[in-house]
Amino acid sequence: MNQMAAIDSNADNKPETTTNDTTAQAVKDTLLAPRFYKTNYAEMDRLDVNPVREEWDKMLAEYAADNNHDHFRGEVDYDAEMHDLSPELREEFVDFLVSSITAEYSGCVLYNEIKKNVDNKDVQDLMAYMARDESRHAGFINRALKHLGVAVDLGFLKREKDYTYFKPKYIYYATYLSEKIGYARYITIFRHLEKHPEKRFHPIFRWFQEWCNDEFRHGESLALIMRANPHLLRGYNKLWIRFFLLAVYSTMYVRDHTRPQLYHALGMDPTEFDFRVFEITTEISRQVFPLTLDTDSPRFRAGLERLREINVEIQALRQRGGLVSRVKRLGLSAAAGLTFVRLYLHPTRSNEIPAEPRLAPVW
Ligand SMILES: [Fe+2]
Ligand SMILES: [Fe+2]
Repeated sequence: MNQMAAIDSNADNKPETTTNDTTAQAVKDTLLAPRFYKTNYAEMDRLDVNPVREEWDKMLAEYAADNNHDHFRGEVDYDAEMHDLSPELREEFVDFLVSSITAEYSGCVLYNEIKKNVDNKDVQDLMAYMARDESRHAGFINRALKHLGVAVDLGFLKREKDYTYFKPKYIYYATYLSEKIGYARYITIFRHLEKHPEKRFHPIFRWFQEWCNDEFRHGESLALIMRANPHLLRGYNKLWIRFFLLAVYSTMYVRDHTRPQLYHALGMDPTEFDFRVFEITTEISRQVFPLTLDTDSPRFRAGLERLREINVEIQALRQRGGLVSRVKRLGLSAAAGLTFVRLYLHPTRSNEIPAEPRLAPVW
């Protein structure tokens, strides 16, 4: 990674961080880090959205109208609005921005690749619009990172990240959920800061509402794809939906709890925040998924807590290094696997999919 030069935007005495460090952080693949995906393009090419043609064309018209065209373009006076950040908060905030930009850019790359590799006009048009939005989002986060004296080299990220192969249906389940949970996260933070503007320590939070409306619409698109292909929502596919719900919820829970300073600065409790986000996401996902997770159950909550504790222990052992730590880590990984299986087997609630497929972002 040493072929990359440190960026020279430290002229105004910003703390010294290099593109190297931050890009390395973004490239690093851990179970919790956002991933890059590839898929079976030939199968996506055969996707038929005719069963939802009317809603589909309406949605594509919304994308074409591009109501957020100028939203991410204007000048931002970071210095005027930014609070002084302690080194710990700064580190967690940068970590938050880096994992956000990785997720945005991962979406951008995937949607672009699909667009390039299919001839199906419906799929091509949708992917072009979603890639457009994600590229704006990633660019906007990169501006905030640059102001903090750090930048992620997106081209490098695209070349060096490992790509996980997902069948198209897994792409639909996983991206649907990540778009909707992204909406739920951003709108929850935005609504909280509307009530507590004194906690808005960085201007980026002011952009969250329109931003998350883009993510909401991306989720709507994937919901329509699944509604047009109802076999994706039946039979043993329900087991996959259950798996992706749990994987996305538990990853978010564990990762958010690794950033206590960030939530403290926002005046939020990460546990309360996460359960509010689950509640919203679950409510939204009733538009398409035949089941929901019972996140209110004390046993379910205890399972997530156990996963979090195991992650804390694994991180501590990783810092320590050595053979004994490695053996202990193996044991803890097995315990995490078992906890995940228990959570997976926790009873779910079945859901009657409504006649009307589309929702409005009303949270
Ligand atoms: Fe996005
Ligand atoms: Fe998105």
